[in-house]
Formats: sequence, C-alpha cells, structure tokens
Amino acid sequence: MYEHLTDRNLALDLVRVTEAGALAAAHYYGKGNKDDAIKAAVGAMRIAFQGIHVQGQVISVKSENIERSLMLHNGEEVGYGDGPEMDVAVNPVEGTFAVANGRMNALSVVAMAKQGSLLNPGHSHYCRKIAVGSAAASVIDIDAPIKVNLQNIAKALGKPIGELNVFILDRPRHQKMVSDIRLAGARVNLHNDGDVAGALLASDPHSHIDVLLGTGGTAEAVITACALKGIGGQILCRLDPQSEEEKAEVLADGFDLNRVYGVNDLVTSDQCYFAATGVTDGEVLAGVRYEDEYAITSSLSTRGRTGTMRYVQAYHNRRKLAKMSTVEY
Ligand code: FBP
Repeated sequence: MYEHLTDRNLALDLVRVTEAGALAAAHYYGKGNKDDAIKAAVGAMRIAFQGIHVQGQVISVKSENIERSLMLHNGEEVGYGDGPEMDVAVNPVEGTFAVANGRMNALSVVAMAKQGSLLNPGHSHYCRKIAVGSAAASVIDIDAPIKVNLQNIAKALGKPIGELNVFILDRPRHQKMVSDIRLAGARVNLHNDGDVAGALLASDPHSHIDVLLGTGGTAEAVITACALKGIGGQILCRLDPQSEEEKAEVLADGFDLNRVYGVNDLVTSDQCYFAATGVTDGEVLAGVRYEDEYAITSSLSTRGRTGTMRYVQAYHNRRKLAKMSTVEY
C-alpha cells in the first residue's frame, strides 16, 4: 500500500534526525559526562523523528545504563506514525566517550530500512569485522589470515602493503591483531572510538584509511552495512561475544557463531537509508560549529537503491530556533 512512499528518499528526512542528535550532544563536548550527551541527543532525535512520515520501529540501539524513558529502546515506535513500516537502527552518539573527552570522530547515526530487512542483533553486542571500499570488496575473507587479507587489499587498491592504513580500535583484545598487521608490513591507525567512522573512511577512496579491522559493536555493524549499501564497499562480520553471558544469550537468540554476515545479510533490502551528522570533528564529517547566531552541522546521507550520497552543510539559526523549540541549539 505504501510502496510509492518507500521510494521517497527518506535519507534526507533522516538527516534532520541526526542533525538534531548532534546539535544536542555537542553541548556536552569535553564536559566529561557521556550520559548527558546521550540523553540530550535522544530527546532531540525523538522529536525530530516525529517529522518523518514512517511507522518506524527501533530494532537496534546500543544499550546504555540510562533510565529507560530517557533512552531509545528496542521496540520503540518512532516516526509520525503513517507511511511505510520501517526498521530503525540508531546510535544517538556513536563515540560517547569521544564527546565527553573532546576527542575526534563522534557521530550521530541512524539507519532505516524496509520492515524486516535490518538484522536484529538481539543480545549480540560484539562482532568481529573487516570493512573495505568498493575496489577491495570482493577480495576480503574474514577467515583468511590478516597478512593474506592485507596483501589482497593492497593489490586490489594498487598500492604496496607498506602504504596500507588499517583503522582499529585501541583495545587489549586487539593486541595480537595489531602485531599481525605490523608483521604483515601495514600501518596501524589506533583509535579510541568510532568504528562506524572507521568503516566510512575505509569505504572512501579519498581517505587515507584503507581497511577497518577488529571487534566492535554489532549494532554499529548493521548501521555501517546500511551506509555501505549506498556508498559501495563490503563489511564482513562474525558474532564475537566478549563474555560467557553474552555468548549464552546470543546462542539462545538462535544465532550461529560460525556464520559470516556480509552487507546483504545485515541489510537485506535496497530500500535502506543512512544518515550521519558529525558531533565532534573527524575525517568523515566536521563536528558541530558555532558561528555568530548559527550552529553549523555537517552530515552525510546515503540511499541504498540509488547509491546517491549527499553531504549536507546546514546553518541552524539559533535565535529563531530557540523561540520555536524545547531543544537547545
Ligand atoms: P558508543 O559510543 O556507542 O559506546 O560506541 C563507541 C564504539 O567505539 C563503537 O564505535 C564500537 O563499535 C564500540 O564502541 C566498541 O565497543 P567497546 O568500547 O566496548 O570496545
């Protein structure tokens, strides 16, 4: 019934949601309290979602130890409540510590796709990932040794392995991987947070990052896949529970720990949309800036079906918006 509406580019509407999240979270830049940034982003995004003509249901949001009413939760309905039925995966602040501690690469991100087409991560918090852009999409293999993957990626990109840059989160669990990357001769780029940003960089032939490796959030993998459906590129992942409790819950959910998920398993429909707005500065997007009476945001939107990517710079008039909105701009 709503097929014609799902053909609208909802990614543009989603940008207003991530702009709202980023503008709200940015007030807490460097203030040391990640929960305040998340709560502010959630409040603003809930309101912004109401402007989108969809019947959205959140199927994936990173759990936080925050009072339920102040946090988006799985099963929550978002959107105006008419229009197409959509799955929503959201991370109001991807890189919460980056905001709190004034570091780079924090984004507000949302992925949305036709109902039933986003992988519901259930109780899975972590998965092992490898992500690259279009040029190397067909040569990666999550089961192959690091060295083989890096050799194949370097060949596909037409550069020596010594010039390959690998984005990886700086975590104790990655110690062996980091040494394997260096032994293979590639460069390691250690980051504190933000593997959605890492995968977006890997997918961009103009960025200095060539590949994302390591274990990070499963929710982030689903969001990344939605972006890559539009941008091109590949993410392969396998669930990688980090505790016995997570393992038991994931198995009880019915997941197969040996299964490898690619972009088209994480997001099964082309009717998918992704938006991200920079909260703090990063290579993908600039963070929120304040100039005179404007708050300036930088966003990216992508659409799976058409492959259109848009970079949107928006000037938000703080004086006018303050009169109309309960959200601080
Ligand atoms: P949050 O800011 O939502 O906590 O996520 C940041 C992040 O760095 C993700 O990009 C990454 O997938 C995940 O955390 C890794 O988890 P952990 O910090 O537990 O290693």
